[in-house]
Amino acid sequence: MHKVLITGGAGFIGQNLVHAWRTARPEDGLVVLDAMTYAANIRSLEPLIASGSILFIKGDIRDAGMVRSLFDEHKFDRVLHLAAESHVDRSIVDPEAFLQTNVLGTFTLLKAALDCWRASDTMSQSRFLHVSTDEVYGSLKLTDPPFSESNPYRPNSPYAASKAASDHLVRSYVVTYGLPALITNCSNNYGPYQHPEKLIPLMIIHALEGKPLPIYGDGSNIRDWLHVSEHCRALMTIIERGSPGETYNVGGRSERNNRDVVGTICDLIDRAFAEDPALAARFPSCPAATKQSSHSLIRYVTDRPGHDHRYAIDSDKLAMKLGERCHITFEAGLDQTVHWYLDHQSWWDEIVTGGYKAWLDKNYSFRTAV
Ligand code: NAD
Ligand code: DAU
Repeated sequence: MHKVLITGGAGFIGQNLVHAWRTARPEDGLVVLDAMTYAANIRSLEPLIASGSILFIKGDIRDAGMVRSLFDEHKFDRVLHLAAESHVDRSIVDPEAFLQTNVLGTFTLLKAALDCWRASDTMSQSRFLHVSTDEVYGSLKLTDPPFSESNPYRPNSPYAASKAASDHLVRSYVVTYGLPALITNCSNNYGPYQHPEKLIPLMIIHALEGKPLPIYGDGSNIRDWLHVSEHCRALMTIIERGSPGETYNVGGRSERNNRDVVGTICDLIDRAFAEDPALAARFPSCPAATKQSSHSLIRYVTDRPGHDHRYAIDSDKLAMKLGERCHITFEAGLDQTVHWYLDHQSWWDEIVTGGYKAWLDKNYSFRTAV
């Protein structure tokens, strides 16, 4: 039985991970620490909190005193660190929050873990898993091989630079102090509970509401899509069976350009409306409600500054060493995701009509139509 801390557990991947952990390892004690920024949502965790199945703490990972007392009180031997500012567009508008949380927040956690595990002489049986991103490796050309764990770091956005800095800090704690930490660098996740600021939920929701589908630049940028459930399974495997000090890349083996991703979403929505006539009454502004195609909403807009062209992940190390491979095809995962958003309108409606809309209205400058 483990005492587990998940930071950022009210975010997109965090919520999925909390549910996955609870299901797979019901005997473990589970504490979720999250500052509840705009990106957080605890609706899906409420039943677990109410039943005492998890302990939820609203708190900032930069609060060193609070973090240390949590370690002292709960004696964690598994830490999965996901709390972060995660949206590239926001890092372009307001980079400071990214440095604060992603770098200083990670430092606070590393220090608390080291001090606590040293004091209790539990270093060898403890593990700290730092969840990072493929964006630290920079951008690939079409002919380049996918990123492997030995690729040099070349971050291009303030977000990627802050994650790269945090990875370096984690590495330094392993080498200098012997902290039993591991790093994962994964590709773009998609699936339930993703905030509507990110590409896939944004396009689904805009299509349902009959709003433009803004593709940055010419839409040729490529991402390697990973279903969040497969990412969570990989994280659980890596923290249990991975070697401290090692880095593991996690990818979805599903490279797609943004034009194709948005086109597939439009096709799936059109098909869902054709199969279920009730959807037209629920989403009357969607073109599919009047038998038009959702493709008609696609607009090409000015590009994201410093937009990385291609990410692709070589996950061979994870497959060879730990036997972890992904199985969900992008088309099947996307179909499931489109239906999840169709079935959870009240979840995203609350976000879309609240603070997120205010942010978008204020910061829409680099998304003007071309
Ligand atoms: P998210 O933005 O959906 O969630 C982040 C969570 O962290 C939120 O609940 C937020 O409230 C919390 N948080 C932010 N600042 C905090 C602070 N100072 N103290 C405590 N909590 C704080 O992010 P996500 O998409 O779930 O990503 C989780 C992690 O995975 C991040 O570290 C991200 O860099 C990494 N990652 C994400 C993806 C992806 O595609 N989503 C891919 C690769 C890596
Ligand atoms: O690669 C892993 C990273 O994936 C994570 O580290 C980040 O936390 C996560 O946000 C994600 O970063 P991206 O910048 O790739 O994700 P985003 O959903 O913002 O954009 C995906 C692609 O779609 C990117 O090429 C930009 C483009 N895009 C995005 C939005 C929001 C558009 O064309 N239009 C849009 O409106």
